[in-house]
Amino acid sequence: MEVTVGLIGLGNVGQGTLQILTENAKSITEKLGFPLTVKAVCSRTVESKKIACPSSVIRTVNWREVVAHPGIDIVVEAIGGTATARSIIEGALGQRKSVVTANKELMALRGAELWSLANANGVNIAMEASVAGGIPIHTVLREGIAGDKVVELYGILNGTSNFILTEIEKSKAAFDSVLAEAQQLGYAEADPSADVDGLDARSKLAILAALAFGEDLKPSDIYTEGIRRVMPVDFQYAHQLKHTIRLLCLARQTEDGLVLSVRPSLIPRDAILANVTGAYNAIWIRGLYGEDTFYYGRGAGSKPTGVAVVSDLMRVAREIRFGSPDRVSPFAHERLGAYKPLPIPTQKLPYYLRFRVEDKAGIIATLATILAKHNIGIDAVLQLPREDWRDLPFVVTTEPAREQAIRDALIEIRSADFLIEPPFAMPMQRGF
Ligand SMILES: NC(=O)c1ccc[n+]([C@@H]2O[C@H](COP(=O)([O-])OP(=O)(O)OC[C@H]3O[C@@H](n4cnc5c(N)ncnc54)[C@H](OP(=O)(O)O)[C@@H]3O)[C@@H](O)[C@H]2O)c1
Repeated sequence: MEVTVGLIGLGNVGQGTLQILTENAKSITEKLGFPLTVKAVCSRTVESKKIACPSSVIRTVNWREVVAHPGIDIVVEAIGGTATARSIIEGALGQRKSVVTANKELMALRGAELWSLANANGVNIAMEASVAGGIPIHTVLREGIAGDKVVELYGILNGTSNFILTEIEKSKAAFDSVLAEAQQLGYAEADPSADVDGLDARSKLAILAALAFGEDLKPSDIYTEGIRRVMPVDFQYAHQLKHTIRLLCLARQTEDGLVLSVRPSLIPRDAILANVTGAYNAIWIRGLYGEDTFYYGRGAGSKPTGVAVVSDLMRVAREIRFGSPDRVSPFAHERLGAYKPLPIPTQKLPYYLRFRVEDKAGIIATLATILAKHNIGIDAVLQLPREDWRDLPFVVTTEPAREQAIRDALIEIRSADFLIEPPFAMPMQRGF
């Protein structure tokens, strides 16, 4: 007997899902042993869309019709946002229908409570597509390496910012012009802030960290900085230091608590994550027992994300068909424990400090005095030859120092009359 699907949202993800369910139906049926049939599709403008599915499929602009339809077993939420999407998911779970969603924003904010609702109703909620679209990282954390104890997780989780950073690195063009190119190519939205300010990556890291460490955390718990201040010259200096720059998502369990951050960081050029370029995503996980594993693939896109949605649908369909007494929580842990944070200012790392200055006498002496006052040791001073004495970018790298000391020193340095903009600091991450 078939299992039936109601698909709400016919944008990138919805269309990719529909295409795969339609074109790949034979293979899906062979794998499952029964058909997975689309019963209804919904979007605000469904009438004007070209949808490649049989005329028997219900087309509606009203998502409530899909949620309430007694002949639909699984609801796909592929509209995004947090308001209507939440109503759709709660409505479907309340009707004892399992849900598949691609919605990182909502799941990062409300995932644990939606899972409780699913549990109370004896149905499932699956969200493989919500993080790193084409990489089956949920399945890895929930099942593949569930026997390990994750110690560290690093990710490049936003394809747009990775594309922009690696284009700046390659072409030496400035942030604004590379952003404009990314917008033209369709890699960046007209309003790029969710991507370039790190907010999209932050939602994804919140989900992955909850999965990996079982702590009940919210996106706002994560220290986040975007990539707007990264300049081509930063790559030149980073290369001199045998490093490169990536928007690094980091979750590290320590005895004192969990460190979480999304920020542009220097990483060694020979690190596996340094080879992740363009719009690709990657996640590198260190387990206490299984040691290092690495996952790489498309982070977004209609079809890679569609594969994730369809694979979730197949898993949930099997549960419906054969009974599912042992559903694995989407957060891998039966219940999420309290979040025990380790504040970023307490972390001790070497830092890359870039200053843009008007050339004057005594600059290095002033910086050295202030850094020394905050117990920060200088490791190196780098200055590329420049013609414009009114805009000289140069770099100081430090010995490992507490981030609080770095922040305090930079506040003091900000008032120096030789700076043409506030100093820019990035941690130099080690250990990969
Ligand atoms: N794009 C990706 O590669 C990707 C990757 C991973 C995860 N995601 C996530 O997947 C979700 C969908 O993203 P997307 O890129 O597919 O978005 P999208 O292209 O903007 O598509 C959204 C769809 O939802 C429909 N919709 C919006 N509000 C609706 C409502 N109230 N009732 C019925 N339909 C409604 C829209 O209808 P109309 O077309 O009729 O306006 C559109 O078809 C988001 O949560 C996103 O974060 C996306």
